[in-house]
Amino acid sequence: MKVLVTGCYGQVGTELMALAKAYGHETIGFDYDTLDITDQQAVQACVQKEQPDVLINAAAYTAVDKAEDDKDAAKAVNATAVGYLAQACKVLDIPLIHISTDYVFDGSKEGAYIESETVAPLGVYGETKLEGEVLVRSLCEKYYIFRTSWVFSAHGNNFVKTMLRLGAEREELGIVADQRGKPTSAREIARVIYEVLASHKNAWGIYHLAQANAVTWFDFAQSIFDEAKQQGLPLRVKQVNAITTADFPTPAKRPQNSELDCSKLETTFNIELQPWNVSLAEVIKMLSEKSKMEDVQ
Ligand SMILES: NC(=O)c1ccc[n+]([C@@H]2O[C@H](COP(=O)([O-])OP(=O)(O)OC[C@H]3O[C@@H](n4cnc5c(N)ncnc54)[C@H](OP(=O)(O)O)[C@@H]3O)[C@@H](O)[C@H]2O)c1
Repeated sequence: MKVLVTGCYGQVGTELMALAKAYGHETIGFDYDTLDITDQQAVQACVQKEQPDVLINAAAYTAVDKAEDDKDAAKAVNATAVGYLAQACKVLDIPLIHISTDYVFDGSKEGAYIESETVAPLGVYGETKLEGEVLVRSLCEKYYIFRTSWVFSAHGNNFVKTMLRLGAEREELGIVADQRGKPTSAREIARVIYEVLASHKNAWGIYHLAQANAVTWFDFAQSIFDEAKQQGLPLRVKQVNAITTADFPTPAKRPQNSELDCSKLETTFNIELQPWNVSLAEVIKMLSEKSKMEDVQ
């Protein structure tokens, strides 16, 4: 299959590009510098020229806090541009695979969220991502929307890399312990997307895609430091303190519980999601090897 990936330099985009060959796909990747998805004419021209068999949109405005003061830009990328991609896919009659977020929920539920649960985003990022979902569903018949959460990888900006940096700089850290979710590796998202395509089930719709188990940011940070220590990474951090959301105010409100129930994905496509701690060990190993290479150079 010929797969067109937008946002190909991002966390998920990078993994989609890297893993495609293993599934026998040819990929063409675009990012901001080669295809600005907010340019409708450029999107149409690119999709017409490339004639892909499927389009995967990994491009997004992901700066959750910045989005609060930058609504127009967030909406342009996360909503309006997604409509352009959906229209272009409809013209070619090809599937659109789109990635969305746990932040479409308000986090007030006790247990895990299923796909049909009421959405009620708390901030601009979640609102604009939800608008993107609505556009895909209204404009396309052949689509998969994968809602994921707490994405991490060896590249780009993410919590794992932030913790490793802070843990190397400071002896004591305070980490929020009253927000719960499922950390998910970009590589696992890419793998699952290609598994779903390989199934040829065409069971179009919205699916939750996140790795077990649900934890707090505090728990996740502890696991990051434990794994990093086990792999011999230099860390100064000696004490990690559990703090509350109120102790660490941010411009955007975040859901307290954004645990995603992934049983629809697992049963429909007979897919077993890898637990995040396995992915975390792989990502830390990659980062450790990368830093050793940089030391040598
Ligand atoms: N990160 C998370 O924790 C998280 C959680 C839940 C869901 N998601 C969703 O998962 C998907 C992938 O996220 P990610 O973490 O891989 O994001 P990412 O690392 O921020 O990558 C997004 C990519 O899209 C590019 N982009 C932004 N605006 C663009 C435009 N107008 N045209 C073309 N490319 C553009 C970005 O370029 P620049 O860097 O130059 O802006 C970046 O390369 C997104 O849909 C996101 O909403 C992410």
